[in-house]
Amino acid sequence: MPLKPLSHQTLGVCYYPEHWPQDRWPQDARMMVEAGIEFVRIGEFAWSRLEPEPGRSDWAWLDHAFEILAEAGLKVVLGTPTATPPKWLVDAMPDMLPVGADGRVRGFGSRRHYCFSHKGYRAECARITTALAKRYGEHPALAAWQTDNEYGCHRTTLSYSRAALLGFRDWLAQQYQSIEALNRSWGNVFWSMEYRSFDEIELPVGAVTQVNPSHLIDFRRFASDEVVAFNRLQTEIIRLHSPGRAISHNFMGKFFEFDHYAVSADLDIATWDAYPLGFLDREIGDPVFMERYMGVGHPDFDAFHHDLYRTCGQMRQGTENGRWWVMEQQPPGPLNWGAFNPEPKPGAGRLWVWEAFAAGAEVVSFFRWRQPHFAQEQMHEGLLLPDGTPNHGYELCKEITADLATHTPVPVNTRSDVALVFDYDSQWMTEIMPVAEDASHFDSVFRSYCALRRAGISVDIIPPSADAISNRKLIVMPMLVHCTDAFAEALDRSEAVILAGPWTGAKTRNLAIPETLPPGPLQSLIDIALRRVETRRPFAPFKIANSEAFDGWREDIVPGESVDVIERLETGGPAVLQKGKVVYVAGRGDEKMQDKQVRRALDLAKIKWTDLPDDLRIRDNGQLSYVFNYGSKTRDITSIAKGRKLEMGSLQLEPCGVTCLGPRV
Ligand code: GAL
Repeated sequence: MPLKPLSHQTLGVCYYPEHWPQDRWPQDARMMVEAGIEFVRIGEFAWSRLEPEPGRSDWAWLDHAFEILAEAGLKVVLGTPTATPPKWLVDAMPDMLPVGADGRVRGFGSRRHYCFSHKGYRAECARITTALAKRYGEHPALAAWQTDNEYGCHRTTLSYSRAALLGFRDWLAQQYQSIEALNRSWGNVFWSMEYRSFDEIELPVGAVTQVNPSHLIDFRRFASDEVVAFNRLQTEIIRLHSPGRAISHNFMGKFFEFDHYAVSADLDIATWDAYPLGFLDREIGDPVFMERYMGVGHPDFDAFHHDLYRTCGQMRQGTENGRWWVMEQQPPGPLNWGAFNPEPKPGAGRLWVWEAFAAGAEVVSFFRWRQPHFAQEQMHEGLLLPDGTPNHGYELCKEITADLATHTPVPVNTRSDVALVFDYDSQWMTEIMPVAEDASHFDSVFRSYCALRRAGISVDIIPPSADAISNRKLIVMPMLVHCTDAFAEALDRSEAVILAGPWTGAKTRNLAIPETLPPGPLQSLIDIALRRVETRRPFAPFKIANSEAFDGWREDIVPGESVDVIERLETGGPAVLQKGKVVYVAGRGDEKMQDKQVRRALDLAKIKWTDLPDDLRIRDNGQLSYVFNYGSKTRDITSIAKGRKLEMGSLQLEPCGVTCLGPRV
């Protein structure tokens, strides 16, 4: 049975006791409690201290850390240390190292230096996880586990090692059963790519030019399944020896190398690592936009991940409400890993925490307790300065704790009327076959997400499954490249309004054009046929009447008789098509077009929306709604708050301000 969710929202911190002298630990624990911290994650990189040599373990220091944290009343989240295998282990088994696409071994000296497919490494992971779970599994201070750390970080999901090659061949043999079936499904008659046996198949890298897309997509699925299996090995051991403790893993931002829904099916809590200013610097190319949000981050990027991982927290069978945390939250200070690392604006740190609580997070846990004065992350701020005295982040914890003393929210994860479909398989398909250089499944989904947020809508991000779309009023599915027959049937049965974007149903499972022209199985919902995709560079948008445009991508669609063309391109071709409750947008809308289509769909679905002033965002949370100001001007939110009780904050919403509105009065 899934474990009981928390009944309150609270703070945590990531702590590395092994980095500091033991006589400092009691003071650290005391200071954590004084700041209102309740959960402390430890251990996830500590393998070389737990097993300094083959066959010799040293538990004394970790026993002592548990004791000190427990005495202070803190709750421990224990990480398995499998993201950082020690040098002696790598030397004993050098073929466990991952191999890059360039054929070079990715060696020891940082972290994540392992190949998911290496059987010997998996056995070592099982061994250390068993030892940890037996020793601490029932410790009274142990609240939860974290498996490994950020699966796939530093692009480590795909490995081109011998272990991966053998694993891939096995995986293919199981999937296709016969080599003839594989040849047929992949279309290997093209360019004489036919194989006589599974043993002839290589990893999809190093060929003269483009590799067959069917080969590539299967390799991505195989690699994703390897992460699932790697994680499951640990969760099964932990569940055996640590009854009643929740198991989590910390996912990342804009990271799609494996299917997070599938990994989450083995977790009790989905968590993720939120670094708003690092993401803005890494992901957003537009300098005007970056300057505007430099100190607070993208108003929708972190929220998107809160919504995605909240759904991940519901994937384990029998889970009703789902549980999710932010396991690593950027402190209110500069990071070390952006190309540039600005400081957050005053108030930004508090806004980030409340944006997560408003989205239902049980715990927001800061990375990290104390800034180290050594090694790779010495320029990454912590809650304490390198000398152990409080920095801004420590004060922020006290501020949030003071908020929580007067405003005591509970984690609420009510189902939203609006569901936005995000699908890892479609993401891989667009990476393999982008058609336009800047197009991706994520990009299309995120554009719709931002438009929904600008209309004040709280969204659930969901996988393409019948369960996930039940009881919805609006289903938005931009660029669901492969749509299964089962999902098309579920959509057909649903009474919700469906807003589909370009390239939906465009490919078969093997990344080929379906025999029924795209949108393939969705033709039963809306009788249209895709004849051509045209993509253009950003300087040449496809204009639509009323100054909206498709930006970079438009489709030539032939409508059947039952379909209405409700918008046309300036050149006359269909731009938006509708049949009853199903709307198909035949291009990638710019911001104005996204807003228009999303708002039209909300009207069709009879969902109330708000035309939010620039930079304001709203998040509904059960009976409450939170309003956030990501801009640099104070905003009067009296009209938004009309008729509702003021629970926290003010109607004059300052930059980085947070206001909570209660039930209608
Ligand atoms: C995360 C990682 C942490 C730390 C942090 C720095 O990706 O899980 O261990 O490296 O980034 O921002």
